[in-house]
Amino acid sequence: MGENDAVERTRRDYDEVAELYNDLVRGPEDATDALSVAMINAFADIVRAGGSEGAVVDAGCGPGQWTDHLDRAGIRTYGVDLSPAMIAIARRYRPDLRYEVGSMFRLDAADESVAGVLAHFSLIHTPPDLLPRVLAEYARVMEPGGPLLVGFQITDTADADGWVPYDHKASPAYRWTPDALADRLGEHGFTELGRLRIVAQAPGKPPGGYLLTRRAVPSDG
Ligand SMILES: C[S@@+](CC[C@H](N)C(=O)[O-])C[C@H]1O[C@@H](n2cnc3c(N)ncnc32)[C@H](O)[C@@H]1O
Repeated sequence: MGENDAVERTRRDYDEVAELYNDLVRGPEDATDALSVAMINAFADIVRAGGSEGAVVDAGCGPGQWTDHLDRAGIRTYGVDLSPAMIAIARRYRPDLRYEVGSMFRLDAADESVAGVLAHFSLIHTPPDLLPRVLAEYARVMEPGGPLLVGFQITDTADADGWVPYDHKASPAYRWTPDALADRLGEHGFTELGRLRIVAQAPGKPPGGYLLTRRAVPSDG
């Protein structure tokens, strides 16, 4: 599938389920949600420590719950998503925040202008052969040293490429082994800082995980 087909498919699929998806993510909390919050707060701490004047991009922000969270944590953040229905929901909750319909393949940001990127379960729909394009786009817009936090679905049984298709309810998706995804990120200049695996995932869902990286600075060697 080419970029245009992939993007159109994802947009259409998420437009259809946007309200349902929002009810789910803003519904009752799961015990493991605290782990997601911990990772996102660690990401926010790194942005804060960097002292950048740039904003953070919540890339594939969906209904905007993490854009909202980061803003409340004092991190200037804007959300970008393919789905106009998702963006409409995000604006409904926080009309004061910046939300844009757009694609992670082509972010509306100058080179090295962004303090960090949050990709919270949004890369899962990128066909693996197109992943390098998105990672190159993140690397283009991010300031050196800025953090990139990726939330994704984990597999332990992939072949040598490190990914398997996943029967996601909304749209075609891919699970990755943490090592393979970390390698792909490394190829685009993202140095791993740490990772988390959520073991007690809700029934029927594969384990979720996080890779916390930062865009290399020249002194990283
Ligand atoms: C599983 S949802 C995650 C939404 C939100 N980040 C969250 O954590 O709840 C995936 C989202 O990524 C968006 N998405 C997928 N591919 C995208 C792309 N290439 N550019 C922008 N948004 C994308 C979808 O439209 C969808 O809203």
